[in-house]
Amino acid sequence: MCGIVAYIGNQEAYPIILKGLQRLEYRGYDSAGVALLDQKLTIYKKKGKVAELEGSLIGKNLHAKSGIGHTRWATHGEPSDRNAHPHRSPSGKLAMVHNGIIENYAPIKKELQNKGYVFESDTDTEVLLYFIEDIYQNDATSLEEAVRIALKRIIGAYVIILLDEAHPDTLIAARKGSPLVIGIGKNEHFLASDASPIIEYTKEVVYINDYEMAIVKPDELILKNPGNERITPFITKLDMELAAIEKGGYEHFMLKEIFEQPTAVFDCLRGRLDAKAGTIRMGGIDKHLDLLKEAKRIILVGCGTSWHAGLLAEYVFEELCRVPVEVEYASEFRYRNPVINPGDVIIAISQSGETADTLVALENAKNQGAFIFGVVNVVGSSIARLSQAGAYTHAGPEIGVASTKAFTAQLTVLYLIAIKLGYAKGCLSRDRYLHLIGELALIPDKISEVLKSAPEVAALAEKYKDARDFLFLGRGYNFPIALEGALKLKEISYIHAEGYPAAEMKHGPIALVEDNLPVVFVATKDAYHDKLISNAQEIKARKGNVLAIISENDTVFQDIADETIAVPAADEMLAPLLSVVPLQLLAYYTGLAKGLDVDKPRNLAKSVTVE
Ligand code: AGP
Repeated sequence: MCGIVAYIGNQEAYPIILKGLQRLEYRGYDSAGVALLDQKLTIYKKKGKVAELEGSLIGKNLHAKSGIGHTRWATHGEPSDRNAHPHRSPSGKLAMVHNGIIENYAPIKKELQNKGYVFESDTDTEVLLYFIEDIYQNDATSLEEAVRIALKRIIGAYVIILLDEAHPDTLIAARKGSPLVIGIGKNEHFLASDASPIIEYTKEVVYINDYEMAIVKPDELILKNPGNERITPFITKLDMELAAIEKGGYEHFMLKEIFEQPTAVFDCLRGRLDAKAGTIRMGGIDKHLDLLKEAKRIILVGCGTSWHAGLLAEYVFEELCRVPVEVEYASEFRYRNPVINPGDVIIAISQSGETADTLVALENAKNQGAFIFGVVNVVGSSIARLSQAGAYTHAGPEIGVASTKAFTAQLTVLYLIAIKLGYAKGCLSRDRYLHLIGELALIPDKISEVLKSAPEVAALAEKYKDARDFLFLGRGYNFPIALEGALKLKEISYIHAEGYPAAEMKHGPIALVEDNLPVVFVATKDAYHDKLISNAQEIKARKGNVLAIISENDTVFQDIADETIAVPAADEMLAPLLSVVPLQLLAYYTGLAKGLDVDKPRNLAKSVTVE
């Protein structure tokens, strides 16, 4: 949830750490801080965004060759200077940053208070730091060993990095549940929550696994397993360019990523779909095709926008593969004690690949014998490494907190899998198979067409930006898109919005309809179209404002609706890849019109690594 950066080497540490925090700010922006070590340990931290920390340090002596930094998403203790990281130990000699949650911090805090320790902050992190130093000082052991002993008592998730005034040439790091990547340079090392702060310095990285510890010196990286044995670091080459994590001339990452969708979907299809040859090649599927064909049940698991992708995939897999499909909120699935049978296939959907609830839900299901197939965007992420097979969505880095291009890339991968599996199982005729892959190949260009409606959508956003509530309605394949539209608007504009299956309105929610309530219909042409027209007339009858995403030349809906945004015609099953784009734009332009920070909406973070 938080963003962590550290550096040790022969360059000035502060500028590297500051830039790293700016790159990781989408992970949390409640407060920021750095600790620098040059003979003496100095700590600077401030409530608010990284820019406020940077501003407060102008003119200060920030010289140091090693340091740690943190940008916070508050869990324990409100956003404030004293709850900001890094925390300093009672002796003043240790500094620590932490990403995660220490669930059993309260009893440990009590123990330490009984020993006379007085805490500066309300955080769980400070408790762990005091606990480590207590062992370090009283058990006459090394800092590394004190960390190992302390972590044995810890319940929860963590990445921690410690700086020790007594050993300026060494950083100690440990991981369980939260992500940590170490970049290998020439006589220097870069540590971070993901690769974005590292990419401009080196492409050689090591992904740290759960329960591993790293002892990092300028010219040496020592990795140890839980048994305190040295392990050889597995070095991966990053396949990402710096430009991918820059705004590229756009005002916001969210707008850039919305406009990157034609390329993202194209990259997702590249090397997999050959519409001319009528083939779909996916290594992760081909290798396990028999197992997937025999699957007794497919369970789609995810959170937020990824769950919406799963909900749409439920409709598609049942239609094309004729197999029982369930879609699960990972946070419920992990605790509900679900019945998992041999032959069950779990498809895990995650942009970041680090969402804690999804990760643990998969670990539980895997331990019960389910086969895990990952649909993930971040290469090398925990969910990708936990899955027995998978397909990357190749959407490129997604920095804006609101997921946009990763969603359409997730849908594209899920369509590819369902079409391939349905055809392999003989549930899909050759004609339907060729039709669907032909249509899929046309999607990138059709999304480019939809993006031309951006100015129209911006005008709609300006008109409705002061609405107190919004409703989003859809049926069939468009119902999950209605939910996604509502989520995007909530996230970015803070307007209360709900998505519903349109026919559900009569069972209660229609009571919300009053003068000028904007009701967005996801109404591209499909088997439900006539029914949806009746639903729109029910809203009009109660003076609601009907805004509709329609298929081009749909004059019927045009006549009923107050506002329409037309998208190119497409097979009804694939139309969600088009109809979601105006909803992403509506959220973006509404947030913009309200003067909000659309890339870093309040209270949110890009990757939810705590439960
Ligand atoms: C979507 O815009 C949100 N950022 C959020 O709902 C997100 O989809 C959810 O946290 C799941 O994240 P993941 O795909 O990285 O697992």
